[in-house]
Amino acid sequence: VKVTFVSSNGTRREVEVAEGETAREAALFNGVPGIDGDCGGVCACATCHVHIDPAWIDIVGRLMEGAAEAELLQFAEGANQYSRLACQIPIVTTLEGLVLHVPAQQY
Ligand code: FES
Repeated sequence: VKVTFVSSNGTRREVEVAEGETAREAALFNGVPGIDGDCGGVCACATCHVHIDPAWIDIVGRLMEGAAEAELLQFAEGANQYSRLACQIPIVTTLEGLVLHVPAQQY
């Protein structure tokens, strides 16, 4: 599954990720800068914050109010209605071509 990460300076990186991995792993395994994923992908650090491209937000799904992911993201730098944690986005084939924007900083 191809996923494109767009950095805050506009650099686009297309990476290939296996189904069943997460968007966090897609970034880490391919050395995408700006995604740290410090907690190991267990929704506890928010250093894997991404903005889902507006064209994809309804396919990926928005943050669920009250969920642990939403609680973490309220403190994240630059969080908005497109914010998600990459470790909480499982990659499935319907996400082929997904575009994720990496925030300028994670905290
Ligand atoms: Fe820590 Fe996603 S890797 S919250």
